[in-house]
Amino acid sequence: KRIAILASGSGSNAEAITRYFQNSDKGIVTLIASNKSNAYVLERAKQLEVPAVIFSKQELESGVLTQLLLEQKIDWVVLAGFLLKIPENLIQAFPDKIVNIHPALLPKFGGKGMYGMRVHEAVKAAGETHTGITIHLVNEQYDEGKIIFQAAVEVTSEDTPESIASKVHELEYKYFPNVIESLL
Ligand code: GRF
Repeated sequence: KRIAILASGSGSNAEAITRYFQNSDKGIVTLIASNKSNAYVLERAKQLEVPAVIFSKQELESGVLTQLLLEQKIDWVVLAGFLLKIPENLIQAFPDKIVNIHPALLPKFGGKGMYGMRVHEAVKAAGETHTGITIHLVNEQYDEGKIIFQAAVEVTSEDTPESIASKVHELEYKYFPNVIESLL
């Protein structure tokens, strides 16, 4: 199965997923796409020798990116730190074939604007005893698609948003590639 990864930032998840599938016969990452021309994920794509494309919000919303994904016979679209809302045209072209990871235990700490460090700051501020990751299919509403997998980790009063972030990243690298493979 051919996998495209959409990422807006550092791309550590994109790298973990790509490396995992280099040793899997079930799937292969054939494209990494970003809406940010300076996103470090593009550097990682180069190192990993995965074709990369940059697209604009307008190209996402107008269906230009969707067309490219269809032309490249992509089977699954993986969102790994992707910060734009997925438009209807992409959802219709890949029904139940778009999967996202959110760095919290949805439905808590989800929704527009809840991403990156903001999530961990909110978890800390709320005095949560646990946080974690949620891997879900993508539908029209932010972070509201069918939940496929969740994993939790303890949060203590000594934790900072940064230490929470690193615990959550560990969960992401450990589980996201396997969960994707289980969907293929
Ligand atoms: C991850 O924490 C992911 O859960 C969230 O954004 C972050 C992306 O990190 N969606 P990276 O770009 O994969 O390093």
